[in-house]
Amino acid sequence: MFLSQSFVALVALALAVSATPAVRDTPTITLPIAKHFNTTGTLNLLARDQARAKWLKSRASGESLAERAGSLPVTNAEVSYLAAVGVGSPATTYNLIVDTGSSNTWVGAGTEYVSTSTSKKTGGSVSVSYGSGSFSGTEFTDQVTLGSLVIKSQSIGVASKSSGFEGVDGILGIGPVDLTEQTVSNANTVPTVTDNLLSQGFISTEVVAVSFEPTTQESVTNGELTFGGTDSSKFTGSINYVSLTNTSPASEYWGINESITYGSTSILSSTAGIVDTGTTLTLIASNALQKYQKATGATLDSTTGLLRVSSSQFNSLQNLNFDIGGVTYTLTPNAQIWPRSLNSAIGGSSGDIYLIVGDLGSDSGEGLDFINGQTFLERFYAVFDTTNKRLGLATTQFTTATTN
Ligand SMILES: *[C@@H]1O[C@H](CO)[C@@H](O)[C@H](O)[C@H]1NC(C)=O
Ligand SMILES: *[C@@H]1O[C@H](CO)[C@@H](O)[C@H](O)[C@H]1NC(C)=O
Repeated sequence: MFLSQSFVALVALALAVSATPAVRDTPTITLPIAKHFNTTGTLNLLARDQARAKWLKSRASGESLAERAGSLPVTNAEVSYLAAVGVGSPATTYNLIVDTGSSNTWVGAGTEYVSTSTSKKTGGSVSVSYGSGSFSGTEFTDQVTLGSLVIKSQSIGVASKSSGFEGVDGILGIGPVDLTEQTVSNANTVPTVTDNLLSQGFISTEVVAVSFEPTTQESVTNGELTFGGTDSSKFTGSINYVSLTNTSPASEYWGINESITYGSTSILSSTAGIVDTGTTLTLIASNALQKYQKATGATLDSTTGLLRVSSSQFNSLQNLNFDIGGVTYTLTPNAQIWPRSLNSAIGGSSGDIYLIVGDLGSDSGEGLDFINGQTFLERFYAVFDTTNKRLGLATTQFTTATTN
C-alpha cells in the first residue's frame, strides 16, 4: 500500500524532472529517489545489515562466489531507496534499489521485463549471489532512461529467478565496475550506468551524488541522485573530499579511512570501512560498539538487536564524531536514534528509544570495520567520485534536524 503510493509519486516526479529548474554546479542528471519500507512483518533490520556486512567483507577472504552465497542478503530490500528507471523503448519503469555496494543493474524481480525494439540479448547469462537474495537470468543490452537522459546499449540483467527482493524490481548498481567480475558468463566486466553516462558523453566526470533525508514516514520520495556533478541545493557549506582507502576489502567498494569518538571517548581508532547506500544502520566493529554501549549506558534490546536508551540517557547523549580526512562529521544525539514514529516498523515498542549505530558482527582489524549506511547518509550529502578516486561529504539542512 505504502509502496504503490510512493511509486506514483516517484514516477510523477521522474516525469517532471526536466521541467524542474535546480541550482547545479555542472550539467547533471537528477533523479528523485523514494525511501521504501516493507513493514509486513517484524523487520530484523540488524540481522539483514549484518548479513550484508559479512557478505561485503567476504570478498577479501578469497572465498569463491559459491562459498559466499550462504544465507547472506546483499541488500536490505526491507528498507531501501528506490529510483524509477526506464528500460526499453517505449520504456517500462522499474523501481530499483540504489546500491553503491554492488554494480550490476538488473530488473525483473517484480515487474516483468518487457522486450522492445531496443532489447538485445548479449548471449551471456548473469548470476549474482547476494546470499539469501540472489538473481539469475539473461544479460541484455537495452536503452535505459534516467530522468531526461537515455543511455544506449546499457548492459542489464534480466532476472528469470530472484529471491530476497520482494516489493522491488531489481538494483541500480553504482558501485565500482570491478564488482561485476564473474557475474556475466561471456564478459570480464560489464559497464555500469555511470560508466556509460561518461562514455556516451552525457557527463564529463564520473560522479554520483546522493542526497537522503531523515524521514518519519514509511514511504516518501525524499532523496535525490545526481549524475555528473552535485546539486548545491542539497548541501550546506563545501564538500570535503578524501581519497579512497587502499585497505582491502573496504577498497573494493566506496571505502575510506575514519575514526570515531563519542564526546571525547575514543570508540574506533583510524581504520578502513565503507559508505554504503544499501545498508540501513550505521555499523561499527563489535569491540567499538561495546565502547559505545558503555559510554552511552545503552541496553542491548533482544527484540530488535539494537541498543536502547532510556529517556534520561537520551537526554544526556553526546555527539558521535566521525573524523574523515581531518574533518569531523557529527551525528547529534537526535541523529543517533531511530525515528521514534517508526519503531513499530522494526519490531520495536512505540515508547522506546533505539540507537541507529549497530554491531557490524566482527571485531575491528579486518579491513572493513564500519559501514556508514543510510542513517549516516540521511545527515550528510555524499559524492561518489570514480574519476578522481575520492569520496566527498558535506553537511545538509538535515544534519542537525531533530525529527527523529
Ligand atoms: C514485503 O515483503 C513480503 C515478503 O518478504 C512480500 O511478499 C511483499 O510483496 C512485500 N511487500 C511490499 C509492499 O514490498
Ligand atoms: C588508510 O589507512 C591505511 C592504514 O593506516 C594507510 O596505509 C592508508 O595510507 C590510508 N589511506 C588513505 C587514503 O588515507
